Amino acid sequence: MFLVTGATGGIGRKVVRLLRQKENLVRAFVRLTSRYGELEHRGADIFIGDLQLEKDIEKACRGVQYIISAHGSDGDALSLDYRANIELINQAKANGVQHFVFISVLGAERGYEDAPVFKAKRAVERYLAASGLNYTILRPAGLASNLLPLAERFRETGLYLLIGDPKNRTSIVSTDDLAKMVVDSITLEGALNQILPVGGPEILLREDIPRIFSRIFNKDPIVINSPLFVVDGLRSAFGLFDPQAQKALGTYRTLLSNEFFCTKEEIANLEKIFNFQLETLESFLRRYLAV
Ligand SMILES: NC(=O)c1ccc[n+]([C@@H]2O[C@H](COP(=O)([O-])OP(=O)(O)OC[C@H]3O[C@@H](n4cnc5c(N)ncnc54)[C@H](OP(=O)(O)O)[C@@H]3O)[C@@H](O)[C@H]2O)c1
Repeated sequence: MFLVTGATGGIGRKVVRLLRQKENLVRAFVRLTSRYGELEHRGADIFIGDLQLEKDIEKACRGVQYIISAHGSDGDALSLDYRANIELINQAKANGVQHFVFISVLGAERGYEDAPVFKAKRAVERYLAASGLNYTILRPAGLASNLLPLAERFRETGLYLLIGDPKNRTSIVSTDDLAKMVVDSITLEGALNQILPVGGPEILLREDIPRIFSRIFNKDPIVINSPLFVVDGLRSAFGLFDPQAQKALGTYRTLLSNEFFCTKEEIANLEKIFNFQLETLESFLRRYLAV
């Protein structure tokens, strides 16, 4: 039995689909408010709970052999990115789990002081690596599926909002490729007890993204390039009445102001371990936008 947290999220949903296609038993950890009908329809066992509650995590882990941690944090990094994962690892040990896959983030090791999600991910990586469990830690760059709503807006308006330096490099990964790596990590020896940076096959500049949209829709882009101090202004304003949102914006600012890309060697290593060719952003978008 596989336990998948974040089963209704961008990655988790695809992971559950893949596991069910191979007829694995899957327990999908979902919230009552989540859209989990499709997962149920695919034959996943639905576990309704809240990852902020230890007793729910303890119950969900009973009798599972594999755990895939793919949940996000809803702005509460301490409770979800950190505590929930530590408790999942503790329960994995208690239940003799055979393999634990953790979705971290590219750059988790860089020690960004202002980015609670990065700090939580790094602390969890360390805890997992020292746990004695078999593990795979995947550190993805941005997910291609995040760009679909932006592409749809571009299709209608030709507009693209680019905050920060257009020359910053990024390696957007196909969400389908990432889901496949998550699932294959459990069986492939090359992924055992590894921390793997995960990106797409090409290093893009952030300004390449509206260019790709432009090619796909055959439309000239109108790029609005907003400086980073707009986010800084928002952070200061939030600090007055919503410190939690201010902290979450710290992670967002870190994402906008730094480069997140994989080297050619890292990509070659991934393709070697997982034995498939990674998909480009343009190919991913064309498939989903049916153009
Ligand atoms: N998106 C990216 O570009 C990116 C890049 C690098 C790393 N990552 C990491 O990859 C992981 C998955 O990201 P994603 O984009 O697929 O996430 P996502 O689409 O934002 O989904 C988050 C998932 O977590 C669930 N969740 C949130 N709070 C919960 C709670 N209290 N109890 C139970 N479930 C809860 C959500 O459930 P609901 O459906 O109920 O909201 C949802 O299923 C995250 O750890 C993220 O940090 C993402």
